[in-house]
Parts: sequence; structure tokens; C-alpha cells
Amino acid sequence: MAVAGARPNFMKVAPLMADFRRRGRERIAPILVHTGQHYAPEMSDAFFRDLGIPEPEINLGVGSGSHASQTAQVLERMEPVLKEHRPDALMVVGDVNSTLAATLAAVKLGIPVAHVEAGLRSFDREMPEEINRVLTDAVSHWLFTTEESARENLLREGIAAGRIHFVGNVMIDTLLANLDRARKLDTLERLAIEPRGYALLTLHRPSNVDDPSQLRGLMNVLEEIHGELPIVFPIHPRTKAAIEANLDGTIGSLRTTEPLGYLEFLQLMANARVVLTDSGGIQEETTALGIDCLTLRDTTERPITVSKGTNRLVGSDPAALLIAFREVIKSPSQDHEAPPGWDGHAAARVVDILERDLKGLS
Ligand code: UD1
Repeated sequence: MAVAGARPNFMKVAPLMADFRRRGRERIAPILVHTGQHYAPEMSDAFFRDLGIPEPEINLGVGSGSHASQTAQVLERMEPVLKEHRPDALMVVGDVNSTLAATLAAVKLGIPVAHVEAGLRSFDREMPEEINRVLTDAVSHWLFTTEESARENLLREGIAAGRIHFVGNVMIDTLLANLDRARKLDTLERLAIEPRGYALLTLHRPSNVDDPSQLRGLMNVLEEIHGELPIVFPIHPRTKAAIEANLDGTIGSLRTTEPLGYLEFLQLMANARVVLTDSGGIQEETTALGIDCLTLRDTTERPITVSKGTNRLVGSDPAALLIAFREVIKSPSQDHEAPPGWDGHAAARVVDILERDLKGLS
């Protein structure tokens, strides 16, 4: 049984579902569960359509809520589903509330959990995702990692070495499989922008958008940057709500759009001069694409994107963003390499290990 709940899960689950399908139902008969954490068509359905993910067999319909209530509802609604279907294993991806809640429901029923994208650590326990990562990893049976730092983190936390499997990055499987399709879209023409002639912005971390003075400071600097290079800004629902509540809905002159589908966003990333973001996954996607990325956070759980890739950690101070922006325009990244295992075949490596071990268990 595979679980997906929120937008950053969908591009990770897609290549795994595709790999299950390739192997055939007599070998693996997957059941896909959508928790409903993200439910808006542009945050969910669009990704299933763009990426050809099969319709989930089960939707828990959890929706938005506080962390406690969202987590509790997935936990509660997952239990009868697991009891009814009794899967041999539960597969979870990433670090969202749905990841942790589904994991807890399974391990309490004695169903082993496979965590794809295990071991990433920002060492910032104020990030809700960090709590989800640490707890999910602590009780998972298989820990599939994307980069070397993850193994060190897991070993330090006392995870047995035999459970840790370096497989590479399933999200990059999806990126490589879809890049040609994305490049054919007319997104740039539609937004009247030129290749390399714009910055692409995403912003949704609570640490950046929930505090009105932080959000105001960032928006002021972004307006200044927009005067030097046009900014395209697909707005996450959380950010939209925060701008409406705390900044009277004023976004300035940035070119805003609704949240975009996977392919359109990929096309925009691949052609951007620079990407400004506080997302986790986008740090990895820009590294795979060789596009400069400025990350508006104090920490990253994905250090390989800085050491090998095109990512620079700017911090959350808006003044530092302006300095870093001018610096990256003046001296773009020269040498970057694709991290090991970010090669389009990570999902196959995950499923090979699962299939081998599940045979051993049955
Ligand atoms: C979640 C993940 C985060 C991930 C992000 C990507 C957790 C703790 N966080 O954060 O790691 O980077 O998804 O988007 O799981 N909303 C809608 N429509 C939707 C979904 C949400 O309008 O389909 C609005 C609701 O007002 C909701 C808010 O967005 O309260 C936040 O959604 P939520 O699922 O709580 O977390 P994200 O901020 O999206």
C-alpha cells in the first residue's frame, strides 16, 4: 500500500507506482491511498493527470486543519483501511503530516513501513517536517535515502545500518521522465517571458509567510528584485491567505499565477535565470537542472544541493536575499554535477529491494 497526501508527495509516488505497474500485479499489487491533505484541484488532481498516477483506490478526505487534527485524522482513518487490506508493507514518501500519520497507523498494526526519502535532517525542530522526518524514520523498517548525509544522520540516531538503503532520488526520476514534455509547453509565451529573462519564486514555509513582518520584509525586497529581473510567482494557498490577511492582499507588481501543474512549473524552472524558494524539493530539482537556486531559509536538510549543486542558502533575512540575488546574477554557478543516484532509476532500485525482502518475509 502506498500513501500520498500533499503536493510534494505526488511526484515521488508517481515513478514508484509506474514501476509497480511494470512488474505486473502477480508480483506486486499496489493499493494507492490519498489522505486528502491537499484537496484543491490545482494542488492535487493536476499532478495525478500530468504524471499519469492511477486514481487512488481510497481517499481518506482529511483536508486542512491544525497539525494535531490533520495528523490525528489520517491516523484514525488509516487504521480501518490497513485492517481491511492487510498490505505486506506500507510505503510512505517525504515528510508531510500524512507521511508520519500513516506510518504510525501501520506500525501499530505490525505492518512494516518503507520510507522513501529517509534521513534528511535540517536540525531545526521548529520545522513541522523535521518532526515528521525524525519520527517516521525511527519506526520505519526500510529507510531509502537520496544522499550520503542521510545515512550519517540515521546511523547517529541509532538506526541499524542494514535497514538503510541508498537508492538515489525518485523525484528526479519524475523530472527526467517529464522534461521533454514540459519543454514543449507554451507557458513562457503565455506569461510573456523570455528564457533566462525571469526569476521564479515560490514561498510557503510557515517561518516565512505566517509572521506578518517577515512576509512584509520579503515582499518589499522581492519588489525591488522584480525591478531588476521580472519575478514570476505561483502562489501557494497558505501564502495567498497570509497575504490577504496580513498585507491587505497587496502583492505589488510581481507576476502572480495560481499554483501551476507539474509540467508547467518544470518548464518555468528549466528556463529561469534563477529560482528563489523556501521549498525542499525545488532545491533538488534546480540542482538536477543546473539552474541557480537561492533558498530563503536558515537551514537545508538537503546539503548535497549546496555542496555539489546550484543551491545557495540565503537565510531568512530579506536584506541578505537582495545581496545574494545580485551576486548570483553577477557570478552564476559554473560547475555542478548531478548527485549520485539522481539518474532516473531510483524507483526501480527501491522496488527491487522491497520485492526481494518481501519474498523473504512471506
Ligand atoms: C504541506 C507540507 C509541507 C509541503 C507543502 C507543499 C506538512 C507539515 N507540510 O504544507 O511540507 O512543503 O505541503 O505544499 O505536511 N490549502 C488549500 N488547498 C489545499 C491544501 C491546502 O487551500 O488543497 C490551504 C489551507 O488553507 C491549509 C493551508 O493551505 O490550511 C496549508 O495546507 P497544509 O496541508 O496544512 O500545509 P502546507 O502549508 O501546504
